[in-house]
Amino acid sequence: MNQLFRRKQYKESDQPSGLVRVLGVWDIVFFGIAAIIGAGSFSSLGEAVFRGGPGVIVLYIICGIACGFTALCYAEFASRIPTAGSAYTYAYASFGELIAWIIGWALIMEYSFGNIYVAFSWSDYFTSFMGRIGIHIPDFLTCSYPEAKKAFMNGSQNLQLVNAWKNAPLIGNLKIILDLPALVINGLITWLVYVGIKESKNFNNIFVILKLFIILLVIAVGIGYMNTDNWFPKSIITGEHSFMPNGFAGVMSAVSGVFFAYIGFDALSVLSEETKDPQKNLPRGMIISLILCTVIYIILTLVLTGMVDYRKFDGIGDPLAFIFEKSNANVAWMEFVVSLGAVVAITTVLLVFQMGQPRIWYAMSRDGLMPKKFMTIHPKYNTPSYATIATGIVVGIPILFTDKSFILDFTSIGTIFAFVLVCGGVLLLPAKKKLPGRFHMPYINSRFLFPIIFLGGLTFFYFWQPAFFHNLMDWKDPNEGEFRISMFFFLIINFGLCILAFVKNLSLIPLMGLSSCLYLLTGMTHNNWFWFLVWFGIGLVIYFSYGYKNSKLHKKLNNDLDENN
Ligand code: ALA
Repeated sequence: MNQLFRRKQYKESDQPSGLVRVLGVWDIVFFGIAAIIGAGSFSSLGEAVFRGGPGVIVLYIICGIACGFTALCYAEFASRIPTAGSAYTYAYASFGELIAWIIGWALIMEYSFGNIYVAFSWSDYFTSFMGRIGIHIPDFLTCSYPEAKKAFMNGSQNLQLVNAWKNAPLIGNLKIILDLPALVINGLITWLVYVGIKESKNFNNIFVILKLFIILLVIAVGIGYMNTDNWFPKSIITGEHSFMPNGFAGVMSAVSGVFFAYIGFDALSVLSEETKDPQKNLPRGMIISLILCTVIYIILTLVLTGMVDYRKFDGIGDPLAFIFEKSNANVAWMEFVVSLGAVVAITTVLLVFQMGQPRIWYAMSRDGLMPKKFMTIHPKYNTPSYATIATGIVVGIPILFTDKSFILDFTSIGTIFAFVLVCGGVLLLPAKKKLPGRFHMPYINSRFLFPIIFLGGLTFFYFWQPAFFHNLMDWKDPNEGEFRISMFFFLIINFGLCILAFVKNLSLIPLMGLSSCLYLLTGMTHNNWFWFLVWFGIGLVIYFSYGYKNSKLHKKLNNDLDENN
């Protein structure tokens, strides 16, 4: 049993050498915005608004808070284990090998599957940009097969998807429907990463400025077309005008799309050795970028839902261009500018994620948990060439047969799960000596505070959303059934955490991170959980049939035992 939780020891000498502390707080903020703002704000915002209505801004605030606590946990890990900083490495040192493997496996959901969604989103904007300059790509080459099929079967309002199904050419009985732009951009990015394109600080800053410019332009122009009545549409539950027309359950059902918009801040933790005065600048930079993104998301949501009735966002993959279409605000030049800007802005997210995945596999392969092939370094380009191509395949093949919403849910549940383990991991870390220039998470005793915050939050929520609570308690009502079981587990686990906090004087920040990420998991549907568990099961089978035996640590421990005998 102990073997499953064997831990890798990292030494100070594992620190990357030659890194220079050049990054100030605003550089961290810029890197944060580069990694965070992408398909989530340019694409999944549309579906999130459709599900939750204008009230989805509440979820943006909850996700921002959960990510803020998690960011501090990442910073704490990064300051202790400064090698190839990813949650996988952190887990190997604190929880041991099995959990490290599980996190590495979950990170495939964040990076590779996340990029499938980003590629779909890139394709949506690319197609709409091409359309605006008069080049019409046939509908059956701009969406995935299951998406078109689902839209046709459900009688969706999205004509593009329905037409794709109706007009697709046939080979035998098989309709040829595929998202060609998504496949092509995946191929191009894989090639760029393979030949070793390096992101420089300047390159990064230009793209961040472009992203911010586009979003601020959408806000500035959009405000003039807003009708605030749209913020209070008729509730489908009570029939009265409401900020949350689908109730709080509707808002929570948007969790995947909203959370996806925040993914990427975890990448900042790897910058701890290049940050000036990381003790101050790293957490400040992370928190400032999360606050800025939260404010941007809230204003953007208010503008979108003020301009266009939230119900019109069903299946819309390019919402920031959509609001300026003829049937909405009718500002043709904005449609053009937004589509072009989005194509460029989203490309950077693709690049960052596609570079991250092979490096995690490289680290896992170095530890013996993945085949040696994944450690192959290209002799000329000095990149993890095999792992890079494998990433291109893992991203590319599902583009052919998955649909966007499935991938979005899958990415979000996997990433939140990894965050839960990271926050939990920090709770298990022993106290450390304060070293100058390192980040130290402030210790706040949660003994009384956590139970007060949890019970206070529950009471506030009960009075604020009594209908949501009553429906959860009404076991005969199927409406909120999707969330009932997860909510039940959430409450039980949190009562347990209150007791642990009291008995063990746990540190408040990671505990709040753990609890708030667990809360986000309650928004996942049974279907999400099912597929997550299937993925989890496959991961365990692979670990026990390969990683467990081939792990370097396993071999080393066995050798040590042999020598001692
Ligand atoms: N947060 C990143 C995006 O929205 C993943 O594209």
